[in-house]
Parts: sequence; C-alpha cells; structure tokens
Amino acid sequence: MRELAGRNAVVTGASRGIGRHIAVALAARGVHLVLSARSEPELERTAAAARARGVRATVVAADLAHPDGAAQLVERSLDEAGAIDLLVNNAGVQCLGRFARTDLDTLLDAVHLNLISVLQLTRLLLPGMLERGRGHVVSIGSMTGKAGVAYNVAYSTTKFGVVGMTQALRAEYHGSGLGFSVVIPGIVRGDGLAAWLQDVPGLRARTLVGTTTPARVAQATVRAIQRDLPEIVVNPTPVRPLLALAALAPRAVEPIPRIIGVPEMYRRALAYRDHESRA
Ligand SMILES: NC(=O)c1ccc[n+]([C@@H]2O[C@H](COP(=O)([O-])OP(=O)(O)OC[C@H]3O[C@@H](n4cnc5c(N)ncnc54)[C@H](OP(=O)(O)O)[C@@H]3O)[C@@H](O)[C@H]2O)c1
Repeated sequence: MRELAGRNAVVTGASRGIGRHIAVALAARGVHLVLSARSEPELERTAAAARARGVRATVVAADLAHPDGAAQLVERSLDEAGAIDLLVNNAGVQCLGRFARTDLDTLLDAVHLNLISVLQLTRLLLPGMLERGRGHVVSIGSMTGKAGVAYNVAYSTTKFGVVGMTQALRAEYHGSGLGFSVVIPGIVRGDGLAAWLQDVPGLRARTLVGTTTPARVAQATVRAIQRDLPEIVVNPTPVRPLLALAALAPRAVEPIPRIIGVPEMYRRALAYRDHESRA
C-alpha cells in the first residue's frame, strides 16, 4: 500500500515499546489510528503523540490474551473508524523461562496473545479489506520465530506461527489487492520487552548478535506495508545467510547459537531476573 495518508490502522500493543514507535511512525505518514493494549493511560500518551502529528487517534483497551478480546477490539475499531485498512499485530509477550517449569496459564496466555489473537484479528478484519480490494496486515515476529531459541519455547512456537500465517495468507490472497508482511526484529535495546537485558552483566551473545532499536523496527514496518514485503529482518548483523544454511543443513548449524552463547545469555538473564525478584 504505497499511499498511507488518510488510511485507518489498528495497532495492538501500542501502549509502550515497539508499538508506540510504530504508531507514531504511521501517524507521521498521515495514518489515523485505533490504538490498543490493556493500559489506557499509557495508550492515551501514544494517542497524544499521534494527534500531535495531525491524525485522529482513538484508544480501545482490550485484553488480547482473553478469548473475547480480539472480537471486542474489532467491533470497537469498526465503530470508531468505519473501515480498517491496516492491521499491525504487534502486542506480544516473551514468557522467558525453563519450559518444563512453565505453568499452563502462562502458556495459554502467551499462545492466545501472540498467536490466536493475531489470527482472530486478521480473520475478522479481512472481509472488509477484501470488499474494498485494499488492505495490509503486518505482524511483528521475532528471530525466535526463524530459529528455535532455548528458554523461549512458547515464544518461539508462537512466532514461528506468525511467520507461517503471513506466508499462507500471501499465498491465499495473491492478486486480491491485499498485502501481508512479517517484521522480524532481533534484540531491541532502549525500549520494549528485552530492554532489561542491558542491565544483565556479561551477555556475550547480546554483543555478538548485536541489537537494534524500536525506531528501526517501526521504519521497517512502514516499509513492509508500502512495498508489500513478505518479510524483513531487522538486525545489525547479517543473519539471513545463517538461516539459509540452517534450512539446508540443520544439524551443521545447530551448534552455532551455543558457540556464540545464546542459551548462556538467557540462562544468565533468568538467574539475574530471579535474583532481582528475590531482592
Ligand atoms: N523487544 C524486543 O527485543 C523484540 C524482539 C523481537 C520481537 N519483538 C516483538 O515485538 C512486539 C512488541 O514487543 P515490545 O518489545 O514492544 O514489548 P513490550 O514493551 O512489552 O510491549 C508489549 C505490548 O503488548 C501489550 N500487551 C501485553 N499483553 C497484552 C494483552 N494481554 N492484551 C493486549 N495487549 C497486551 C502491552 O500493553 P499492556 O501491558 O498495556 O497491555 C504493550 O503495549 C512483540 O510482538 C514482541 O514479541 C520484540
């Protein structure tokens, strides 16, 4: 969708982190916004930043880990905006931890928020987009959805799902005028769910893999929509050759994350988090 000015977008997870940056980047291009998350005061802050760029911005609080959350958000969004041209599936949780010790409620919440609500929002907004012959759905994936990562089992599972959803939608709706993209950030610094990692001492993998910024993820999101790109990886080091190699020779590539210390990074992060929560 080349021309963004005057379009209506729903952005989930817009109360903070990457979602706030995406909302402001879209507002700067003239997109009117329906902003969603659970925390209304934080959403109002994002809405104020968007309105300062001259667009309409409405706040709709919704819990997308709840089975009815997505349907309620769609209903309210259509009431507020009339028609929705853009859906940004950004809300997500990482639920970092040892899988065997993850309780079922945590697992269900993560699957619901990161995957089921993404499918549900897309499914409910698609008919209107098809009717108008235009629309774009962009979902925020993760590197953990391109290569399974230790201590991120539920997160990886849901993020692989988002990549699969995007590919399948592109195949099914090719030629419809609709676009579908997935944006794959590496570790984001400064803001967002991984920002706390910068306080954990000695994370070699974080240095080796590198970090990106929420602003870069937001720029990539806008680019994906405008050019209908299937997938953009946002990471300072070139990971695509490694992913290609992993597809060709999974066993040969499997030790690489261990060698650069990715599981160790998350072990240390978990130990740090447990220590901080006890302190
Ligand atoms: N940060 C990274 O390093 C990184 C890397 C790769 C991918 N990502 C992906 O980027 C996306 C945004 O992450 P972030 O880093 O910006 O995380 P964040 O700062 O923790 O923000 C998460 C957003 O999701 C919302 N959210 C959480 N639980 C929700 C629920 N049950 N219902 C509705 N909204 C909910 C939060 O708002 P409320 O708490 O107000 O509901 C917040 O707006 C996620 O999909 C994440 O997986 C992040």
